[in-house]
Amino acid sequence: MRLYPPAPSINRAAIADDAWTSPTGETVKIDAGVTVLIMPWTLHRHELYWENPRAFVPERFLPENRGRLNRFQYLPFGAGPRVCIGATFAMQEAVIALAVLMRRFRFDATPNSRIWPVQKLTTQPRDGMPMRVSLRPAKTTLEN
Ligand code: HEM
Repeated sequence: MRLYPPAPSINRAAIADDAWTSPTGETVKIDAGVTVLIMPWTLHRHELYWENPRAFVPERFLPENRGRLNRFQYLPFGAGPRVCIGATFAMQEAVIALAVLMRRFRFDATPNSRIWPVQKLTTQPRDGMPMRVSLRPAKTTLEN
């Protein structure tokens, strides 16, 4: 959700002239009518906001670390009046689906597969995600 956000960009049309000042002090003029792209992909990997931005460290999101996150540095579901209404459902669904699948099956990348993300409306793997799926032995399923 941070490194490969399914919604890599959020678009808005400016309804009036405006200006935005970046954290480094640069001011950008925004004319009425222009399209503004808010890019979760970029924001989620930005060095100004994340320590070791490219590293997969899910512990960043543990309750004790949440206080360090600004509400607007992590936008997988957007923010404000048009925030995703399915956010809680989507997170529960993903965890349940993963738990059910990972308990029964093992997923290994096939040799030589190179997974490359592309931005369409959503983030997608350009050539799919070829994987070898094998049943986990019942014994290991219980032990794990
Ligand atoms: C991982 C899954 C999902 C992601 C990453 C996601 C992401 C987003 C984002 C970024 C927006 C804001 C778009 C904007 O501000 O222009 C949005 C809006 C919305 N999402 Fe999701 N979404 C997900 C799942 C779902 C699900 C499961 C539902 C419905 C059950 C849903 C329903 C909606 C609706 C109706 C809106 C529009 C809300 C509005 O404009 O008032 N989404 N979503």
